[in-house]
Amino acid sequence: MELIDHARVVRENAHAPYSKFKVGAAVKTASGAVYTGCNVENVAYPEGTCAEAGAIAAMCAAGEYEIAEIAVIADSPTPVPPCGGCRQKIAEFANPAAPVTLATMEGESQVTSVSALLPGAFDASHMS
Ligand code: THU
Repeated sequence: MELIDHARVVRENAHAPYSKFKVGAAVKTASGAVYTGCNVENVAYPEGTCAEAGAIAAMCAAGEYEIAEIAVIADSPTPVPPCGGCRQKIAEFANPAAPVTLATMEGESQVTSVSALLPGAFDASHMS
């Protein structure tokens, strides 16, 4: 199954009663394993979490820390871009050149990269 199809499947499990906007994300690690996540909203709105954050948490919980590829899908008119916070979360674990696939439920997709989504990212080198 393509990585975007893992994202499409997990999207169905999103808890999005407030925005009604379900998002699914899937990361593939250097080992080839796939971890998925969906957005989980909360009645206290700022407590909600994004699909990408869920997938990254699942990856770390499994003891893996290297994103080779990531895919995100939502029922949006154009391929759904990760929010700013998620771009930083992805950059924590991915090579700048790692491919990021953004997709709609209608089958439109776009492939970009971590560095294209977050140019000039703050990283550990800035603290040395
Ligand atoms: N959302 C994600 O899960 N990922 C993104 O990259 C964009 C936004 C979620 C958060 C919230 O539950 C809903 O989409 C509307 O913003």
